[in-house]
Amino acid sequence: TADAEEELYRPNYHFTPKVGWMNDPNGMFHYNGYYHLYYQHYPDGNKWGPMHWGHAISTDMVEWKEQPIALYPDDLGYIFSGSAVVDLKNTSGFGTGGQVPIIAMFTYHNMEIEKANGIDVESQAIAYSLDEGLTWTKYSGNPVIKNPGIRDFRDPKLSWNEEHKKWVMVLAAQDKVMFYGSKDLKNWELLSDFGKELNREIGTHGGVWECPDLFPVPVEGTDETKWVLYVSVNPGGPNGGSATQYFIGDFDGTKFTMDKDFETVLNKGQNFWIDFGKDNYAGVTFSNVTSKNGGKFYMGWMSNWEYANEVPTETWRSAMTVAREIKLIKDADSYRLAFKPVDEIDAYKGAKYKKENIAVNGELVLINSEKINFSRAAMNFNISDIKKDSFTFKLSNKQGDELLFGYNGIDDTFYIDRNKSGKTGFSDTFSNKKSVAKRISGSKMLSGTILLDKTSIELFFDEGSTVMTEIFFPNAPFETFSIETVNQDFVLDLLEVNQLNI
Ligand code: FRU
Repeated sequence: TADAEEELYRPNYHFTPKVGWMNDPNGMFHYNGYYHLYYQHYPDGNKWGPMHWGHAISTDMVEWKEQPIALYPDDLGYIFSGSAVVDLKNTSGFGTGGQVPIIAMFTYHNMEIEKANGIDVESQAIAYSLDEGLTWTKYSGNPVIKNPGIRDFRDPKLSWNEEHKKWVMVLAAQDKVMFYGSKDLKNWELLSDFGKELNREIGTHGGVWECPDLFPVPVEGTDETKWVLYVSVNPGGPNGGSATQYFIGDFDGTKFTMDKDFETVLNKGQNFWIDFGKDNYAGVTFSNVTSKNGGKFYMGWMSNWEYANEVPTETWRSAMTVAREIKLIKDADSYRLAFKPVDEIDAYKGAKYKKENIAVNGELVLINSEKINFSRAAMNFNISDIKKDSFTFKLSNKQGDELLFGYNGIDDTFYIDRNKSGKTGFSDTFSNKKSVAKRISGSKMLSGTILLDKTSIELFFDEGSTVMTEIFFPNAPFETFSIETVNQDFVLDLLEVNQLNI
């Protein structure tokens, strides 16, 4: 029944629409005390359908309140993914009454043209809000960028380029990205493209490129800033289906150029994915806000196109990841991104259990659900001397459901395994064990932050150097959290478990 579904599967602190289908996060921005999240939404059904932009607001990126729908489809098409910016200087001229206009740019996807097998299915359009993002007016001059003869041509992501005093927009075109520039958000000129040249392909091209994002991030502990280009790809992800890859380089106002060291490591076959679990797609950054360190915040859609339409909820479908802070780290051979849940989550931490110096040999129960509700918990663990030790953390219940994750010391990989986590049979590709090489290889330290909700786990290993996000659907809430290892002198140096009062 719907009540049972609410009880068992409605996340405690990951955003879901009250009713209906959701996919990509769109148009996130911060203004005047509020964070805004729009999202691909079909309010009249629980599978993908005519796309709207749903809307939610938050004062801390953690607790979201759903708002009335922001954009409805119209004669020009469905409202596909896009972004929003705060037009502080009223460059668009829409703020005629002295207001600061918010401008959204999105893709129109025209089903009539698609049915007629036309090429020019997708075009870019804008809408403005004069009440800080609550209600929107579509621009009468839409579309502002017509289709140039490329079938897949979508997901515009806007940003203000302070150095060149202009708006820059990046969108996905088949399996490359294209950069555009504008002074007023209405008139756009093509600047350059990236990802595919005559004789070579850059990055992963297993499917169509989607939802790109271009943004600067300061390199941790230095005065240097580099540009990051996010590109989602579907299919072609490291575990099948959808995933988000990234590139690091420089942007001169016109062209994105990969950093030389980054390019060398990329060409050697190193994978650059923002997440190595199966459920984090189409994530992009928030506009008009940075972290204390100048980093960006972002959220992703916590599902995968391989089975998003089939997951076992009926009232709503899909949730977002928690908002995460993006950091850029310089390693010996190149740059890489690291991620952490936003600090604002800490304010919700309640009851805390801390254990130190835990010797493990065999299976050991660490904590059970009488003390901690695993459907809203944050954990940290630390191992100071990992050697070749493998270990498995396990969440389980009396129904026999098990969610496993941990580290394999033999091949130096992290893994997550939801094969027996509950309902899995709705898709052939939902079960399978995912593993990824430990990024900070050779170090004796291993640590992690774990966020748990009713139907999701977000693993941030080694200070967020390797992230794995996955969803699961147990037959009953998990009751026991344990660890297992076969090594005789294994020590878990620290385990901290916090109830999240959300
Ligand atoms: C990514 C995506 C976007 C598109 C939207 C449609 O998940 O395919 O490229 O704009 O979803 O809902």
